[in-house]
Amino acid sequence: MARDTGRAYQQLFRHGFRRLDAERAHHLGFAAVRAAGPVLRWRRPVGTPVEALGLRFPHPLGLAAGFDKNGVGIDALGALGFGHVESGTVTGQAQPGNPRPRLFRLVEDHAVVNRMGFNNEGAAAVAARLAARGRPAGAPVLGINIGKTKVVPEDDEAAVLADYGVSARLLAPHADYLVVNVSSPNTTGLRSLQAVERLEPLLEHVRATADAAAARHVPLLVKIAPDLADEDVVDVAAMARRIGLDGLIATNTTIARDGLRSAPAEVERIGAGGLSGRPLTHRATEVLRLVRAEVGADLVLIGVGGITTPEEARERLAAGATLVQGYTAFIYEGPGWPRRVAAGLA
Ligand code: FNR
Repeated sequence: MARDTGRAYQQLFRHGFRRLDAERAHHLGFAAVRAAGPVLRWRRPVGTPVEALGLRFPHPLGLAAGFDKNGVGIDALGALGFGHVESGTVTGQAQPGNPRPRLFRLVEDHAVVNRMGFNNEGAAAVAARLAARGRPAGAPVLGINIGKTKVVPEDDEAAVLADYGVSARLLAPHADYLVVNVSSPNTTGLRSLQAVERLEPLLEHVRATADAAAARHVPLLVKIAPDLADEDVVDVAAMARRIGLDGLIATNTTIARDGLRSAPAEVERIGAGGLSGRPLTHRATEVLRLVRAEVGADLVLIGVGGITTPEEARERLAAGATLVQGYTAFIYEGPGWPRRVAAGLA
């Protein structure tokens, strides 16, 4: 049954979605998922639970940030089989993101390039939606990923703290865990916040704001880029351990374009953006290993980047991940993908 759904999706992808603009296909596919959610909710959960961050995850696989930026489909995505859903990136202020087109497939590479630029409704609107949703029974674990509003200058430290602070204050009460995103390549200067002297005060500020707003400790993680030099990965990991952060997510998309099968002219035509999917597997695993070696057993690590098969998910867990996430494989493999991987991991 799951395999039939997989084949049907491959056909639909080949003859339908693939011909559509990638962002339109995303909206159509997500609308279908939301419509099907209530019907799917009766299915028996699959997978082996994981205890982490003081939470019980039904199994290790979650949906990575960027798919459900505004928290509109959390429960439907859970019903499809994701054990956790990371909503966002949400920014302090609503913003439209970059001009379209801004999402592109590289089919031969099982990869995607995006320069969405944090299009989202802003922290206040997303917080209101989450408050109205409440906590439905059987809901997936909910992570909320927060980032910098584009118009806030990255070199104005007080303004950056205030901007992340708005998101932390409004969203932490609704989050099972919170993620500080300093690693998307599509907001100018964002990745400079990964420098330890910038990142440490930012994480301290977000943690204090989030915990005060939620009146409990909200587990806090930081999501890092695969394009950091190895020494910088180690520095961030060491700092995270020193300040008692709950975990790290490795990795976001890459600005590198090495070793692609797609025609160089096509890659050139697409232009700037973050590359995700298969070409990211090697570096994302390498970064995860570096982080695990530095932090020891204490911190929770979420491995993400190029995971498609249950074997790849298992390899990422063996490389040090506590949990894993995916996004690009969900685009290529379709709605049966989360359940197939969760069942394969069980
Ligand atoms: C992303 N990703 C992402 N990450 C993040 O922290 N905030 C975001 O808003 C987004 N947005 C986003 C949009 C699109 C279209 C894609 C494909 C990806 C990155 C994502 O969460 C993940 O880290 C990478 O895509 C690597 O995982 P996969 O896709 O190779 O499984």
